[in-house]
This record gives sequence, C-alpha cells and structure tokens, in this order.
Amino acid sequence: MPMQPASTEIASRTAAIVNQLKGLEGPLLPILHGIQEEFGHVPQAALPVIADGLNLSRAEVHGVVTFCPDFRAPPAGRHVLKLCQAEACQSLGADAVAAKVKQLLGIDFHETARDGSVTLEPVYCLGLCACSPSAMLDGEVIGRLDEDKIEEIVAEVRS
Ligand code: FES
Repeated sequence: MPMQPASTEIASRTAAIVNQLKGLEGPLLPILHGIQEEFGHVPQAALPVIADGLNLSRAEVHGVVTFCPDFRAPPAGRHVLKLCQAEACQSLGADAVAAKVKQLLGIDFHETARDGSVTLEPVYCLGLCACSPSAMLDGEVIGRLDEDKIEEIVAEVRS
C-alpha cells in the first residue's frame, strides 16, 4: 500500500496552510492550491479542516475540489513517486531523471500507470538539495538519483 501521510498529519499540515492563508480575500482557492502543492493532490482528510477554518460546509469545499479542474483527488496508484523539479535538483539533472522515469513507466506527471502500480507527481523541493537530484517514494526521500537508482525504483514500484 502507498504510504500516504496519516490523516492526523494531513490535518495538522492542512491547518498550518489554512492559518497562513485564511486572512486573504477569497482564501479558498489559494488554500486549495497550497494543499495540492504540499501533498500533490487534495486529500479527503484535508476537507473538514478547510471547512472549519473558513466557516464553510464540507459540501461547499468538496464541490470546489470536484468541479475545479485545477484540483486532483487522491492519487490512484499503489505507490506514489514524486520527483523534485525545483531549482537545485534541476541544476543537477532533474529533467533527465524525469525523462528517464517517464520513459520507463510510460506515464507523464499527474498520471497513474495503467496497471495501477504508481502515480507520478512533480514536487518542488524535498529539503534534500544537498543530495540532488532527489525524489520521494511513498513518503521516503531518495537522494543522488542516478541511472541505477532510477531502475531500482521502477523495479520496486512494479514488483
Ligand atoms: S531542490 Fe530538489 S530537494 Fe531541494
């Protein structure tokens, strides 16, 4: 099973984003964007926290997530592989890593392999810049990606 963050962790990370942005005029969309950036999608467990923080009903928040094409529901893959696309990783070959992973898996970012094995997402800095280029597989960070490590990761998600 993919190691998604526990719902309590989602709730606390969501609450931090809500608190940071709720003073904005029309805070819902910036908050949803912030959450999607944090998790790669908008987790179900985040919805009640947003609704409470903004005095909205859960149905209202759910409606925006569902109908706005900018937002994604939770990833469908058994594994979630995130490749860092931020600057430090870019300067050390993140593009080539992404191209290789996409080629081996036959999918692009925001897609799930047809066999349901893995969802591929970009992420913007994993705090592992010293070990660029980096990735996160099911919540575990992996640094210094090279050809061998990429092949290992792909084999692991397919097994
Ligand atoms: S830029 Fe990739 S981990 Fe910081």
